[in-house]
Amino acid sequence: MEVAVAGTGYVGLVTGVSLAHINHHVTCIDIDQNKIDIMNKGISPIYEDKLEDLMKKNRSNLKYTTDYKEAYKNKDVIFVGVGTPEREDGSANLDYVYQVIDQIKASINKDCVVIIKSTVPIGTNDIIEEKLNTDSKYKIDVVSNPEFLAQGTAVKDTLYASRIIIGVENDHAKKIMEEFYLPLTKEPYNVPIIFMNRKSAEMVKYASNNFLALKISFINEIANFCESVGANIEDVTKGMGYDSRIGNKFLNAGIGYGGSCFPKDTKALHWLSKTLGNELKTIKACIEVNKAQKIKLFEKFKKDYPDLKNKKVAILGVTFKPGTDDLREAPSIINTELLLECGCEVTAYDPIGLDNFRKIFKDKIMYANTIISAIKDKDVCFIFTEWPEIKNIDLKLYAKLMIKPVVYDGRNCYNLEEVKKHEIIYKSIGR
Ligand code: UDX
Repeated sequence: MEVAVAGTGYVGLVTGVSLAHINHHVTCIDIDQNKIDIMNKGISPIYEDKLEDLMKKNRSNLKYTTDYKEAYKNKDVIFVGVGTPEREDGSANLDYVYQVIDQIKASINKDCVVIIKSTVPIGTNDIIEEKLNTDSKYKIDVVSNPEFLAQGTAVKDTLYASRIIIGVENDHAKKIMEEFYLPLTKEPYNVPIIFMNRKSAEMVKYASNNFLALKISFINEIANFCESVGANIEDVTKGMGYDSRIGNKFLNAGIGYGGSCFPKDTKALHWLSKTLGNELKTIKACIEVNKAQKIKLFEKFKKDYPDLKNKKVAILGVTFKPGTDDLREAPSIINTELLLECGCEVTAYDPIGLDNFRKIFKDKIMYANTIISAIKDKDVCFIFTEWPEIKNIDLKLYAKLMIKPVVYDGRNCYNLEEVKKHEIIYKSIGR
């Protein structure tokens, strides 16, 4: 089919490229000319495994442009995958979505289906359908098709998705969607498609992300409690995970969740529930627990070493998780701010994320090209991201290179028995 995708961020670009891979003809639209130029050279503007390979492989099915007026013409299907950032009060900012909707309305020259991939509050698809069809020559069906991709595995999560959720309000739109996604229901993908009404589809997205965030906040609270009672969170989660009703995924205790989705989507759902007079109390608790968890190691450090002035601190890992250069809501940011406020000298290392970290902290901190240069002659080391090279470091190096081998590990990277062999003063989460 002839497809347009609005927005070339994680959701939009990965969607567009994946659809080109299953032989749709895709035009990706963005307002950023610089990004479009980069993509027209076959380069991905985001660091995402396999994305650039697929961009190159499916070049003949892909176009990139800022010219939305042309791009929305003669399309069967138009995806909206622009951001819905958080407003100060926690609600989702839909300005970008509505801007795109206005542009689509002003540009289309035939009936089409508009598919909302952006995460939008429940009921937004209805508003969009009304906006698009009021005083329009064309009949536009709006479909909710939320995205469940995680950064670092986004391409795989899209092509080999756990499920495709489609919220539709009529049989015509349902039929088009069945035809559109047919290749993904077959070998080698075998993705199940689940149809429902639009509000339910919108809710599936929020409920899924909020549940996962809640799972992390729950296990982080249990981890903190393990410390109080002398239990080990890793043994506890191992024991829990054998119960298939609980499962063993998303039970890694740590320094809290970050990223572009969980923080924003928990706040947006909580805001919506409060506004509708039916506050989701579990989500409120989830947000509060995560906020406190992010600075838990810093609090420990402050208690252990009340005089922080001029302490030389190494930070290993700055991205919100491994496999991405994304720093959104990364625990490293708030912790670096707090360390600087206390007069510490900070040196950061990350295999991918330093360029973005530099944009935030400029010359307020130092940047190291290797783990070794980061920890050399430091008083203390914080670990915020569990990159493989940080997990696999020779533990001897801490004692060999640091002034005093004090390590605060926010991602439980090392085996406690191993650590004991190396005279490291080691604090982690829930162990
Ligand atoms: C998430 C969802 O997984 C995805 O389905 C949704 O579409 C977007 O949001 P993403 O933000 O890319 O994806 O990353 P994810 O791997 O889910 O991790 C989010 C955060 O939770 C990270 O900061 C990670 O470190 C943290 N996390 C994850 C934990 O602290 N413990 C865990 O067990 C799992």
